[in-house]
Amino acid sequence: MSAETRVAEHSGLFVTFEGGEGAGKSTQIRRLADQLRRRGHDVLVTREPGGSPGAEAVRHVLLSGAAEEFGVRMEAILFAAARNDHVEEVIRPALETGAIVLCDRFIDSSRVYQGVTGNLEPDYIEALQRIAIDGIKPDCTLILDLPAEIGLKRAKKRAADNAPDRFEREEIQTHEKRREAYLEIAENEPERCRVVNAERSEDEIADEIFALIEPMVRELGFTQTSSAESVG
Ligand code: TYD
Repeated sequence: MSAETRVAEHSGLFVTFEGGEGAGKSTQIRRLADQLRRRGHDVLVTREPGGSPGAEAVRHVLLSGAAEEFGVRMEAILFAAARNDHVEEVIRPALETGAIVLCDRFIDSSRVYQGVTGNLEPDYIEALQRIAIDGIKPDCTLILDLPAEIGLKRAKKRAADNAPDRFEREEIQTHEKRREAYLEIAENEPERCRVVNAERSEDEIADEIFALIEPMVRELGFTQTSSAESVG
């Protein structure tokens, strides 16, 4: 993180979930949120693109493919614009109250989808990220890993009555390249990233994720008690 960015001063824990299509991120986020809430923690579940009213408006433009014809730079800037709104309106305020924030996709999605498979230069992506996140970096990123073919089959099943989105429509080789790109990020940033084998049963994956996150929660000395309605 460069020196120009704001220092993230907060007492929360920021966990992002990444991976290809059909990796089961949303199910696992829900399960982790439930487990943490049952233990009395204040948990915010959110997603990208979206998560704030401004970012949700941009989400539709991106996922419908409406911005595709204007090129990958335009799309990358729109993802970054949505991310900045989401960070400033939702994520930073929640972390400042000491909450645990679980976010479905974040900066690594831009690195992989727009950077690696969109062929955008890494410097361009990193410059956008710096502006978008302004010091708010994930404390931990869980990369749910599985072969692209299996993920796509799952995503198709899930979307039986729903047309695939702009990014799901791409070739299998593109999805496989994304998987490799995620694994490379994990290799380059081992202190932040954990690769989770997502080919296993839902329960096994949930147990591993809880075992990874629980010590971080403990280490930070979380003592919050949640309100009745946030208990899952
Ligand atoms: P979404 O329907 O939210 O689903 P999922 O996370 O289950 O795949 O789709 C978001 C899509 O947007 C997904 O194909 C990845 C893509 N994306 C990017 O290309 N760049 C980004 O920065 C983000 C956050 C998402």
